[in-house]
Amino acid sequence: MNNVKAIIPAAGFGTRFLPSTKTIPKELLPIIDKPSIHYIIEEGINSGIKDFVIITSKNKKNIEDYFDFYPELEDMLKTHKKEHLLSNISKIIKTANFLYIRQKEQLGLGHAIWTARKAFSKEHLAIFLPDDIITGTIPGMAQLIKVASQEKCNVIAVQEVSKEEVNRYGVIAIRRQFSPNLFQVKELIEKPPINKAPSNLAIIGRYVLSPNIFDSLENLKFGSGGEIQLTDGIQNLLLNGEKVFAYKIQGKRYDTGVPLGWLKTNIDFALKDPRYSKEIMKYLCELDKDILLMQGQTEALQKRKNIQTI
Ligand code: UTP
Repeated sequence: MNNVKAIIPAAGFGTRFLPSTKTIPKELLPIIDKPSIHYIIEEGINSGIKDFVIITSKNKKNIEDYFDFYPELEDMLKTHKKEHLLSNISKIIKTANFLYIRQKEQLGLGHAIWTARKAFSKEHLAIFLPDDIITGTIPGMAQLIKVASQEKCNVIAVQEVSKEEVNRYGVIAIRRQFSPNLFQVKELIEKPPINKAPSNLAIIGRYVLSPNIFDSLENLKFGSGGEIQLTDGIQNLLLNGEKVFAYKIQGKRYDTGVPLGWLKTNIDFALKDPRYSKEIMKYLCELDKDILLMQGQTEALQKRKNIQTI
C-alpha cells in the first residue's frame, strides 16, 4: 500500500498529566531524553511513511518547533563538536514532511480526525494515537499496513486485556477469526460495561482506514464521554458495507498517556538503554532491598497490632 499518510491527533487537553500539561504538550513529555511523539514518528518512518499530519490546538506550538531546524543551537553544537546530540531529530526533519492542522474545539478523537479531511484525497489514513508507544521487531504500523494491503480493507490494532479493564477501551465483536491474530470485525463498542463487552480484544492506538472515514464521521452525534468518537465512525464504515479487520499487533504497548504508564515506560526503556541499564538496575536492586525492609517492618508492625487486639 503506497498511498498512506499518517495522522496524529495531538489536540487533547491531557488532563491526566495536569498540572504539567497546562503548558507542556503531553506528546513532548520525554521517555528518557526523547519526547514520546518522537518515537511515534520513528515508527511511522520505519513503516515507510513520509507524510505526517499532526492535529494540534492552543499550547501545542512546541511540537512544530521540535520537528524543525534550530540554526543557532545547531551552530553552537557544531562549534563544540556536539552535533551528535541532535542527530536523531535531524534525521527525522530531513526525511519526513509535516503538516499541522488546528482543531478549534476539543470535541473528541473522531472530530480531531475529521478536522484533517482536506489534507487527504485518496490516501489511506495511518492513524497513530501518540500515547501508545509500540516496540518490537516489526514496527506496529508496518504490521497493519501489510494486513490492509493483503486484505484490501480497514485494519485496527487490538490487544487482549483483562476482563476488568474492558470498560476503559473500545472493544470489538468478532464476525470471523482467520488466524490466531487476525479477525473480521462485526461491531465496535466504545467503553462497554464489563458484563456487556463482546470480547476482551481492546482497540489500541493504531489504525489504517480508508478515506471514507471522513464521510462516516460527518454528522456523527456525541457518543461515549460526550465526545465525537472515532469508534462510532468506524462502526458507520461497517454499516456502509466496508470490511474492517482487527489485528493483534505483535510487540509491547506502552501507555505513556497516564503518569503511572509513563513512569513504567521510562524504567523499561532505561533498562534497555546501554547508557543507563547498569546504573538503573543497580538502583532498582537497592530499592528492592529498601522495599523488602519496609515490607518487613510493616509486617512486624501489623503482627504487633494483631497481638495488641487479641
Ligand atoms: P485522550 O482521550 O487520551 O485525551 O485522547 P487527552 O486530552 O489526550 O488526555 P486526557 O484524557 O485528558 O488525559 C486520545 C487522543 O486523541 C487526541 C488526544 O490528543 C490523544 O492523542 N484528541 C482527543 C484530540 O486530538 N482532540 C480531541 O478533541 C480529543
